[in-house]
Amino acid sequence: MKKLSARRRHPLAAVVVLLLALAATGGLYAAFAPAGKAQADETAQSLAIDEGKKLYTVGCASCHGTGGQGTTDGPSLVGVGSAAVDFQVGTGRMPAQQPGAQVPKKPVIYTQAEIDQLAAYVASLGAGPITPTDKQVDPAGADVAKGGELFRNNCAQCHNFTGKGGALTKGKYAPDLEGVSPKHIYEAMQTGPQSMPSFPDTTMPEQEKKDIIAYIQTVNGSESASPGGLALGGLGPVSEGLFAWIFGLGALVAVAIWVAAHTAKAKKS
Ligand code: HEC
Ligand code: HEC
Repeated sequence: MKKLSARRRHPLAAVVVLLLALAATGGLYAAFAPAGKAQADETAQSLAIDEGKKLYTVGCASCHGTGGQGTTDGPSLVGVGSAAVDFQVGTGRMPAQQPGAQVPKKPVIYTQAEIDQLAAYVASLGAGPITPTDKQVDPAGADVAKGGELFRNNCAQCHNFTGKGGALTKGKYAPDLEGVSPKHIYEAMQTGPQSMPSFPDTTMPEQEKKDIIAYIQTVNGSESASPGGLALGGLGPVSEGLFAWIFGLGALVAVAIWVAAHTAKAKKS
């Protein structure tokens, strides 16, 4: 009895009791907690959001606000969705540098893993279009002819018939679509960056987006395989007309000069 109470007063006794209690709680938690894949995914997701928030605070908050609410230098990101972040940061448009008519593409400064974290954070602020999966954007087996028709009806007025791009009003422009990845094409349609309208799945279902991607990829390989001869940049009637003016008129001018030179010589002699 005396021995036990002596031990109880030992300076380390409190520490030992605390450790035992912690071990017991930990054991109970481990025994009863629902340890499964769902929980692991959730932990990974909240980790990604945390990491994304750190990256966001450093690189984006100055323009988009500390909680994504927006400032005078950048719009609110609440509800733009992970697809918008994946597109904007993945094509190097964001982080924007100086104000201008249109934020241009630049070399990408974040890794894909960091972009995913930024996207996870922004998606946590409010529901919006979700980054598509590889399967969703894969144009294999899509209908190229249908894609061409959809492209001419919905996209050609800005991006030109074969996606070569063109100027818009107020210093804005629709970019050339050559070399843009299927994922970024899909996301551009989902989110409608800057002056481009968006084509959500409700108005343009996944299959139609795939058909369009297939069409863009087909015409982009067409320069070397143009059936009618030189593609002249694929710009349509404008460049073809310009070709006729420069070479046709050029030939006429050359003939006129030749004739003039020869009549001058004939007069002298
Ligand atoms: C210098 C200011 C600036 C910085 C820094 C910046 N942005 Fe932006 N951001 C803008 C402006 C201005 C726009 C609106 C023009 C546009 O749509 O491209 C914009 C647009 C966006 C959009 C599109 C919103 C929509 O409605 O579709 C996203 C997404 C975005 N930014 C994410 C980011 C992320 C993520 C970062 C950090 C890596 C970042 N931005 C850094 C200024 C900035
Ligand atoms: C009203 C004009 C307009 C229409 C219609 C339009 N776009 Fe765009 N598109 C733009 C503009 C402007 C941009 C540049 C936006 C930016 O830089 O943020 C753009 C950007 C894009 C990009 C990103 C290109 C890159 O270099 O990263 C893709 C892909 C794209 N558009 C595809 C399409 C498709 C497919 C359609 C039809 C379903 C379409 N667009 C319809 C104006 C338009």
